[in-house]
Amino acid sequence: MDLIKIKDIYDSPNYNSQIIVAGWVRAFRGNRFIELNDGSTIENIQCVISDSNRKNEDYKKINVGSSVKIKGNLIESIGKGQSFEVEILNLEILGESDPEKYPIQPKKHSFEFLREQAHLRIRTSTFSAVMRIRSKLAYGVHKFFNERGFNYIHTPIITSSDAEGAGEMFQVTTLNSTQANKKNFDYTEDFFGKKTSLTVSGQLEAETYALGLGNVYTFGPTFRAENSNTSRHASEFWMIEPEMAFYDLDDNMGLAESFLKYILEFMMNSCKEDLKFLDERLSKEQSQKPKNDRDDMTLLEKIKFTIDNKFVKISYSDAFEILKKSKYNKKKKFNFLIDEWGCDFQSEHERFLVEKHFKSPVIIYDYPSKIKAFYMRMNDDKNTVRAMDVLFPGIGEIIGGSQREERLDVLLKRMNEMGIDEKELWWYIDLRKYGTVPHSGFGLGFERLIMFCTGMQNIRDVIPYPRTPKNASF
Ligand code: 4AD
Ligand code: MG
Repeated sequence: MDLIKIKDIYDSPNYNSQIIVAGWVRAFRGNRFIELNDGSTIENIQCVISDSNRKNEDYKKINVGSSVKIKGNLIESIGKGQSFEVEILNLEILGESDPEKYPIQPKKHSFEFLREQAHLRIRTSTFSAVMRIRSKLAYGVHKFFNERGFNYIHTPIITSSDAEGAGEMFQVTTLNSTQANKKNFDYTEDFFGKKTSLTVSGQLEAETYALGLGNVYTFGPTFRAENSNTSRHASEFWMIEPEMAFYDLDDNMGLAESFLKYILEFMMNSCKEDLKFLDERLSKEQSQKPKNDRDDMTLLEKIKFTIDNKFVKISYSDAFEILKKSKYNKKKKFNFLIDEWGCDFQSEHERFLVEKHFKSPVIIYDYPSKIKAFYMRMNDDKNTVRAMDVLFPGIGEIIGGSQREERLDVLLKRMNEMGIDEKELWWYIDLRKYGTVPHSGFGLGFERLIMFCTGMQNIRDVIPYPRTPKNASF
C-alpha cells in the first residue's frame, strides 16, 4: 500500500478504506488524538489511538514534533471539527522529538522568534501556507509566459557589469581581503581576470536575447548590497524580468498589468485553503488594532480588487502635482516634503498615492531622467525618461521597468553623462549598432508579490532563508 498525501484525502475522502499517511505531529491531545500534518495542505488529519493500543510502548514516544507513519482506517468522525479521521491500526515512530526542547509548540509564536528557527518554521501553518503559495506563484509566472510564447532564459549570476549603475554589488573574488581591498588593484590576477560581482539584475543580458529571440524572460536570484534594513528589502531576492522586442512603454505597462492580474487570479484559484487561512489570520490581527489603523479591505478583498479594477496610470509630473498640493504635504505630515520637481518619491509618497488618493494600484511613468538608470529611453522633452513603476497597496513599488534607449547616439551621450564605462558595456552598445529596435521590459520583485498575496508584513517571512544586512544564518 502506498503513502497517501493528506491533501488527497481532503480532496476525495475514500471512507472505510485502509490508508497509510506519514507526517509530523502538530498536536497530541489526551494521549489519544494526533493532529498530523504532512505539508501537502494547511489541514491536519486527526488520527485516533484505540484503547487497546494506548499501552503500546512505541505510542508513549509520540510527541509534538515527532515524525510518524500511520496505517489505519479512514472513517467518519463523530467528533466536532472534522468530518473524517484515521482509526489507527499500526503506528511507527520514524523520528522522536523532545517535547521540552522542540521549539515549535502548538501555540502562537512571534515571527521574530520563528526567524531564529527558520529551519523548523516551515512546520507551522502560516509558513507552510506562505511557501505553498510561493511555489504556486512561481508556477503561475512560468505558465503566463509560456502561454504567450516567451522564452525562459538564464542570465548569469556572476557578472562584470552593474546593470542599475547604483554600485550596490557584492564582489566575487578568490583573492584574499588585503589584495581585494587594495586601491587600483590589478584584477587580471583575480579568478576571472577582471572585477566581478553578483548580479543586481539580468536585464542587460536579457536585452541581448530579446533582440534575437523576440520575447524572453528571466526568473532568478539577484543580489543587492544596499544597507537598507527595511521590511521590504532583502540582499538576496528573486526577480522576474521579461524583455520584449518591438514593445513601447504603453505595451510594457499593458503587459505588466495583465501579468499581475493573471498570476493573482491563478493563485486565488489554486491556493484557496491557504489563502482562506491567511485571510482569517490577518483579519484577526486587524481586529486587535485601533480602528483607525485597520485596513479597509481584507486580504482576499484586496487581491480581488486588484484583479477586477484597472490600474491608474499617471505621469510623474501629474503625481508630483497631486503630492505637492496634498493636505499631507501642506500640513508637513510627510517626512520628506515634496517641493521641487525632480525629487525621487519616497515610499510614504507612493503609499499616499496608492492607499489614500487613488485607492488603487498605480503605474507612474515618465520619470525625471536624473533619478533613473542610463538605459531608459529619453523623451523629447530631454528631461524625462520612459520609465514606469507599478505601486501596490501595502507594498509600494512592486515593479520597475522602462522602454529602453535604442538610439546609439542618445545612449552614448547618457552613459557619458552618468560616468558609465563604454568599454565595459561594448556588447550592450553593439545592440544599438546592429539591427537596433524599440524594446521594453520590467522587473517584478517576487518576494514583494508574495507579501501582497499572503499579507505578510516582512520580506524576511516570505523567503525560506532571508539574507539581510548582518544576517546570513542557515
Ligand atoms: O526597480 P528595480 O531596481 O529594476 C531593475 O532592476 C530593472 N533592471 C528591472 C527591469 O527593467 N528589467 O527592481 C525591480 C523590482 C522592484 O520594483 C522591487 O519589486 C524589487 O525588484 N526589488 C527588491 N525586492 C526586494 N529587495 C530588494 N532589495 C529589492 N530591490 C528591488
Ligand atoms: Mg525601482
